[in-house]
Amino acid sequence: MELEAVAKSYARWAPVYDRTFGAVTHAGRRRAVGFANAVGGSALEVGVGTGLALPFYAAHMQVTGIDFSEDMLAKARQKVAEQGLSHVSALRQMDARDLDFPDASFDTVCAMHILSVVPEPERVMAEMARVCKPGGHVLVVNHFAAEGSGIMARLERAAAPLSDLLGWHSDFARATVLGDARLQLVEEDGLPPLGMMTYLRLRRR
Ligand SMILES: C[S@@+](CC[C@H](N)C(=O)[O-])C[C@H]1O[C@@H](n2cnc3c(N)ncnc32)[C@H](O)[C@@H]1O
Repeated sequence: MELEAVAKSYARWAPVYDRTFGAVTHAGRRRAVGFANAVGGSALEVGVGTGLALPFYAAHMQVTGIDFSEDMLAKARQKVAEQGLSHVSALRQMDARDLDFPDASFDTVCAMHILSVVPEPERVMAEMARVCKPGGHVLVVNHFAAEGSGIMARLERAAAPLSDLLGWHSDFARATVLGDARLQLVEEDGLPPLGMMTYLRLRRR
């Protein structure tokens, strides 16, 4: 998707996101944030959206969120204010392909349900690797395309032209996020319900 399409699509999603897609995808947020909390220190959420994961971080964390959509960010800011989430240090409007942070800034960098949405996901992975401290982790939660010629694979390929309308690519290949040599895959798990989403933990070399 082009950035203009992202902004348009998420302006439509923002008012209903928490009660629709957001409501059935908490397993990945809990899994990723649980890991970040256990590590401690600083975390960056790339594509923080309406901030659904923000209440899951422990009070000892320093969390920064970025998103391109001002409509989604406004919802995240509202949650921080209403719930007094003092572990959230900053929420900034930014393009994930060009992160405005120095190298090695964060202990953990998460991208949840965003990599099949952004233009140039490989570039986003490269930016996430850059801003992650060596020995830190990049966490990805995403739906990846079913392989082969089964019914799911055919449905996902059929829905692919609707990506601008849906707000994501239904036929997104897992290999897209595994190509950066600075990141080593150390954990992979299917998530409930039905393993539709996958959790990946990559260690920054
Ligand atoms: C499906 S939502 C996921 C939000 C959140 N991570 C969650 O788990 O609910 C995808 C988000 O990615 C954001 N996004 C898409 N392209 C982006 C880009 N190039 N830079 C920053 N954010 C982007 C959208 O604005 C949207 O908020």
